[in-house]
Amino acid sequence: MTSRQIIRTFLLSCSIAAAAFSHPSEATAANPTIRPGEIWKDAAGDTINAHGGGVIFADGKYYWYGEHRASVRPNPQEGVNVYSSPNLTDWTYEGLALKASDQPGHDIERGCIFERPKVIYNKKTGKYVMYFHLELKGKGYGPARYAVAVSDAPTGPFKFLKSGRVNPTLMPTNLAYDKASKRAGEKMEWWTPEWRSEIGNGMFTLRDLPGGQMSRDMTLFVDDNGKAYHIYSSEDNLTLHIAELTDDYLDHTGRYIRIFPGGHNEAPAVMKKDGKYWMIASGCTGWAPNEARLMTADSMLGEWKQLPNPCRGENADKTFLGQSNYILKVPGKKDSYIAMFDKWDPKSLKNSRYLWLPVEWGEDGVPYVEWKAEWSPSEL
Ligand code: DGJ
Repeated sequence: MTSRQIIRTFLLSCSIAAAAFSHPSEATAANPTIRPGEIWKDAAGDTINAHGGGVIFADGKYYWYGEHRASVRPNPQEGVNVYSSPNLTDWTYEGLALKASDQPGHDIERGCIFERPKVIYNKKTGKYVMYFHLELKGKGYGPARYAVAVSDAPTGPFKFLKSGRVNPTLMPTNLAYDKASKRAGEKMEWWTPEWRSEIGNGMFTLRDLPGGQMSRDMTLFVDDNGKAYHIYSSEDNLTLHIAELTDDYLDHTGRYIRIFPGGHNEAPAVMKKDGKYWMIASGCTGWAPNEARLMTADSMLGEWKQLPNPCRGENADKTFLGQSNYILKVPGKKDSYIAMFDKWDPKSLKNSRYLWLPVEWGEDGVPYVEWKAEWSPSEL
């Protein structure tokens, strides 16, 4: 080693040690920018492990929740991780917000699958409410449940409340029972126009009516009036549902709609600007990237229409090699939104990367997301 290399190594180890012990605000210089797709380290120098998650702002700090993932398969998940940050670039690990249970037979027994956790704050109850996609231990992706947990503090510990399918026995408000297809279970090939038409007519909605609707990829959205919605891939991932939550956010009210039946949408992420609702979603190709979709509506439970791919630039036809996940409305900055995508690494889910990019707005008022190799939230 040359003396120059020795000095550089010494300085680097000093800065790593300083970052490990510093207060988050002192660590501001550690990550001045966001570099989508690059390794993102926390204040302790560990790679951030918070996949498929979401970000909230509470009491002057950001909190990033995400799936804890391991680098081996099958993927032993410890639960839902949480990180805090003063500035969206420097993150301090706060531990497991929700821990897998050691109790055999528990819904979140270690070995279950935790996906796409989202947290929202309920102003009326003063509680932080977490929803996530849960698959029970040893059952693959069959159970297709939503799960709810609650906490008094953003960092947790979140207490697991329940899991299940959505709105058992209740029909969506945009599908009448007498008009719905009753042909589930009949022999019909899935690629035929007949099958597609029956899916459109709610064949799977009726199939799942007694036990409730399937809920896999999901997000939560809180409207300006405090009403919250659970948006999830249902009906074997063929159709998105939007279900209204009760005032305490702990239950579904029973009002829900189906959108884009048979459209195969996953990974929904929602934002609102000037009274209009926007959703970015993906197609269904497992962990592999596909082309993003953009949807819009004038009300959450209204008519949604689809628009072209909102991504632009390098790999825009494959969502920058990622998959949509969450859109953060940046507090205190007018019309600033950050779209968050996961760049999955199915061989080592822990190694999956984060693609955070600013949402931009065209002259026609339609949002788009342009690839940037590096940018700073302070520019927003
Ligand atoms: C795609 C989903 O978006 C992910 O959250 C995960 O469920 C994978 N499928 C599993 O293959």
